Amino acid sequence: MKRLALFGASGHGKVVADAALAAGWHSVVFFDDGWPQVRQNRHWPVVGDFSALTGGAHDFDAALVSIGNCAVRWQKQQGLLAAGIALATVVHPRACISQFAQLGAGTVAMAGAVVNVDAVIGEGCIINTAATIDHDCMLAHGVHVSPGAHLSGNVTVGACSWIGVGASVRQGISIGAGAMVGAGAVVVRQVPDNVTVVGCPAAVRGAGS
Ligand SMILES: CC(C)(COP(=O)(O)OP(=O)(O)OC[C@H]1O[C@@H](n2cnc3c(N)ncnc32)[C@H](O)[C@@H]1OP(=O)(O)O)[C@@H](O)C(=O)NCCC(=O)NCCS
Repeated sequence: MKRLALFGASGHGKVVADAALAAGWHSVVFFDDGWPQVRQNRHWPVVGDFSALTGGAHDFDAALVSIGNCAVRWQKQQGLLAAGIALATVVHPRACISQFAQLGAGTVAMAGAVVNVDAVIGEGCIINTAATIDHDCMLAHGVHVSPGAHLSGNVTVGACSWIGVGASVRQGISIGAGAMVGAGAVVVRQVPDNVTVVGCPAAVRGAGS
């Protein structure tokens, strides 16, 4: 009986839970700092807060942080590691991950995601529904590639950056750390650290994620 603990009883958490069950986990249990007021995340129980998750009183095989915010997700993942908790990597069975790609611990790949040959995805990343990561891309830890976003080949993305829904990134582009690529943006130039870019072609709008 494989039991997965998820921290973050959100809508994103439900998608992770659903993917985990499809991928062969037998049961999912949530933890959230909204507990004890929050006791259910739709189909799954919420049984405690972060200290309950790390405190060792509950029975599970591995855990994963199901929080969309990249910096918070990464910080909580570090908390799980410090507590000696094994991290899961969840890949929906209808994601297509090259045998020559790497996915870090705590990373999720949702239905319809494609990760092509020699791509390297860091720890604690989200490759969301129908996002595509092409050959030789390098994603640092804590990156979120939103639904339907596309990274062409040889794109690099720095730690805890967020690529918005439906964005496209031209091949060979480097996106810095802590950056936000707005929904639908078309990125054709390098993106520095800690900025938000929007539009087509994408241009800096202001401070980052
Ligand atoms: C870029 C983004 C972070 C800006 O959010 P925000 O700071 O709350 O911005 P606002 O909604 O207040 O909009 C500010 C201005 O930027 C414009 N803007 C916002 N997002 C934009 C985008 N993606 N592309 C182009 N312009 C955008 C707005 O039209 C507005 O313009 P105005 O001042 O001329 O009216 C956000 O709109 C976005 O794209 N988020 C990504 C969402 C996503 O991918 N979700 C997936 C979840 S899985």
